[in-house]
Amino acid sequence: MKEDFFRYQAQTTPHPLALEISHASGSYIYDTDGRAHLDFVAGVSACSLGHCHPAVVKAIQEQAARYMHVMVYGEYIQAPAVEYSKKLASMLPEPLESTYLVNSGTEAMEGAIKLARRATGRTGIISARNAYHGNTMGSLSLMDYEERLAPFRPLVPGVSHISFNNPKDLDQIDENTAAVVLETIQGGAGFIMPEGDYLRKVRERCDEAGALLVLDEIQPGFGRTGKLFAFEHYDCIPDILVLGKGMASGMPVGAFTASHELMQLLSDKPKLGHITTFGGNPVIAAAALATLNEITSGQLIEQTLEKEQVFRNKLQHKLITEIRGKGLMLALMVKDPETANRIVLECASRGLVLFWLLFEPRAVRISPPLPISIEEIEEGCDIILEVLTEIEQ
Ligand SMILES: Cc1ncc(COP(=O)(O)O)c(C=O)c1O
Repeated sequence: MKEDFFRYQAQTTPHPLALEISHASGSYIYDTDGRAHLDFVAGVSACSLGHCHPAVVKAIQEQAARYMHVMVYGEYIQAPAVEYSKKLASMLPEPLESTYLVNSGTEAMEGAIKLARRATGRTGIISARNAYHGNTMGSLSLMDYEERLAPFRPLVPGVSHISFNNPKDLDQIDENTAAVVLETIQGGAGFIMPEGDYLRKVRERCDEAGALLVLDEIQPGFGRTGKLFAFEHYDCIPDILVLGKGMASGMPVGAFTASHELMQLLSDKPKLGHITTFGGNPVIAAAALATLNEITSGQLIEQTLEKEQVFRNKLQHKLITEIRGKGLMLALMVKDPETANRIVLECASRGLVLFWLLFEPRAVRISPPLPISIEEIEEGCDIILEVLTEIEQ
């Protein structure tokens, strides 16, 4: 299988981890040698309810047996997509009411950029340095990481950058700006939180300039930070909310949500302003609905903050310089990239799944499934501490 993986499946890095998967359940992934791997990454925040959550599996199986794809997105009334969009609206503040379901986070971002240009008649898009919004051409163009951009130029024009958390840069938002696009909490940059009232200032400046505010909650959304959406911590409501990853607990999905009035613009002048065959797929929408019901019905969201404390209390070691992030979106900071690398690889060999962050090589990602137990957290932290002590010697 390994040989075929390297030969027939396109690779994304020269050195993939290449763990051969047998099955997965709860907080564990099992390999084909029968080893259990405790998962502190959750498919990079995608498996919000852990692996094969029974409610999600049931929703998928029942919907798959009823009907799967019947028509391109938006033509037919398909209950899972309608019910999902309605439920989401009931959990979001005004004016976020109307949802466009797509296939991935990056496509949701493409839709948001298009909507902002269509709504304002302007072309300028402002994003933050070290941001990550996805890998298709529009989302990629929002990035400022030259090494990753150079081979793919020319990019989508009209993009300029500000520094996240620097209010002085906000005067770049002007009458040419269609949208300011920010991650509510910067992910790839190293789990950087908005400081003080930064997001409120961005909101105010957008309002003054008539620009739309787009918040990318693809990583922090769906309960990961102690609220259903991270923007709820910061008293700042976006015009367009971009979602993905943990939304359907491991199924491929994305969405962007805005006011009804704004979203209607994509259906006219031109008609079919954004179209996608599989958007709103009923099986995936059923998984998303089961995920949202499950996340919001118990204490899972509040418990992420208690679990964060367990991580913070346990992970005390000379080699850890800082733990960034909030809830179950944590980045373990160490002094150099070699140490971070060794932690990820050594822990992997001891049955603990950790991962890197895109633009911060001194960080180790911890974003486990939300239902992870305290015992599992302690078990994984003990492995990290054991590895750190070995590295120190
Ligand atoms: C903040 C953020 N935005 C956008 C994306 C892109 O989502 P997808 O990989 O589903 O296209 C990601 C994925 O890592 C992300 O973390």
